[in-house]
Amino acid sequence: MNPIQSLIKDLADQYGRKRENLLPVMQGVVQKEKYLSEYTMIEIAREMDIPAAEVFGTATFYSFLETKPAGQFIIRVCKTITCAMKGKNQLLFAIQDMLKIKIGETTPDNKFTLLETNCLGWCHKAPAMLINDDVYTEVTPEKVREILTGYIKETN
Ligand code: FES
Repeated sequence: MNPIQSLIKDLADQYGRKRENLLPVMQGVVQKEKYLSEYTMIEIAREMDIPAAEVFGTATFYSFLETKPAGQFIIRVCKTITCAMKGKNQLLFAIQDMLKIKIGETTPDNKFTLLETNCLGWCHKAPAMLINDDVYTEVTPEKVREILTGYIKETN
């Protein structure tokens, strides 16, 4: 058994092998591995005896289940209506300009991946974004530069 297979087996032992346990198992893999490769999804399907199409479908449905290698910090900017009206584009421009990456890309040093996401539930404090599990609200271009500088310093 390779490390991926034993990770999936441990998670399935922990959460169970029914369909409703698929999401926690997938999240557990993402937490450890950062993303779900095609191979990993096939192994999850095998371990849980669930059709692979269902595992792929679940991964595409939830934007927080990464299916591509991602950086150490995953930035997810909310693209839903309130944040769109409150300046998420300016926010994205500031991030893209600072990190020199576009949406869907990862910096060459593998530190940051930039993504968009659906409503994060912080519309009353739009625009909102996540960096890994941390929420940032009412983010202005100036504020985002400060936040990212903090992350850059933390890892240098
Ligand atoms: S619209 Fe962005 S958090 Fe709800």
